[in-house]
Amino acid sequence: MLAKIEELLQEVDSLTAGNAEELEALRIKYLSKKGVINALMADFRNVPAEQKKEVGMKLNELKNRMQERIAALKETFESQDNGTAELDLTRTAYPIELGTRHPLNIVRNEIISIFNRLGFTIADGPEVEDDWHVFSSMNFAEDHPARDMQDTFFIESHPDIILRTHTSSVQSRVMEVSQPPIRVICPGRVYRNEAISYRAHCFFHQVEGLYIDKNVSFTDLKQVLLQFAQEMFGPETKIRLRPSYFPFTEPSAEMDISCDICGGEGCAFCKYTGWVEILGCGMVDPAVLEANGIDSKVYTGYAFGMGVERITNLKYKVKDLRMFSENDTRFLKEFESAN
Ligand code: PHE
Repeated sequence: MLAKIEELLQEVDSLTAGNAEELEALRIKYLSKKGVINALMADFRNVPAEQKKEVGMKLNELKNRMQERIAALKETFESQDNGTAELDLTRTAYPIELGTRHPLNIVRNEIISIFNRLGFTIADGPEVEDDWHVFSSMNFAEDHPARDMQDTFFIESHPDIILRTHTSSVQSRVMEVSQPPIRVICPGRVYRNEAISYRAHCFFHQVEGLYIDKNVSFTDLKQVLLQFAQEMFGPETKIRLRPSYFPFTEPSAEMDISCDICGGEGCAFCKYTGWVEILGCGMVDPAVLEANGIDSKVYTGYAFGMGVERITNLKYKVKDLRMFSENDTRFLKEFESAN
């Protein structure tokens, strides 16, 4: 028995395994229940009493050294597993693809740049707003049905805190801290409680504009919007204003542009009218000026607001609004050359 143990002790350090399976085979052969060392342990009973001490010590030594050897071999595999052994620094790198600008950002930037050139600066404000800035300061009477046109998301415990339904709230914030002349555009994301479909979403993007000064008239509004439409959709573009209603403007209008697919002749896109609607606008209601600390006897102003998705649809004929927020790179890549 002692000779057998000595023989095994000689072997321990030369044991090797080429992979994890071979190592497992070694473990089973030597250390498992039915393994060599356990068999020796079972035989230990038959060792004569005077040899028990010597044989017992050798047997323990064998068991310990075998466990250490197998653990050491295991470690070499595990450190190989993390890939360091296969790291090939000469291999060609994976190409890191350059992303493309999102179509909504392309169009928003274009809108901003047109109005920048017309003298408008950018104003920014929070998406999580209070009722005052979104509705009350914009002349929405409490419980007025106009609030239904822009149903939004409320927090039950604090109904005064809402997600803004339009960036007019930013206009209110600008007016409360500054005096005319004011000439700003407010780009940003807005939220409405809408069922999601190809033509509506619970969030979308707007660019609203506000100009307040002495003697600002409807003519100024019309000229600025014509300029915008022709820069955005081409010099042949015509505009048309239809009377409309918004609580914050009086008079109010909706603006159409001549259909750029059929040139105004009438086609399926413009539903054979020759016109497509692109924005809402009007003269700022004196009540809004007063609510925001501006003297309505001295100043007048105009405001307008458009949906960036709508303008993008018109420019690029995107049929389904949901595609803008699906992050499908096949769709986004189509705008590569528009950057
Ligand atoms: N705030 C309006 C909306 O979101 C758009 C608008 C802005 C209309 C300014 C008129 C004047 O529907």
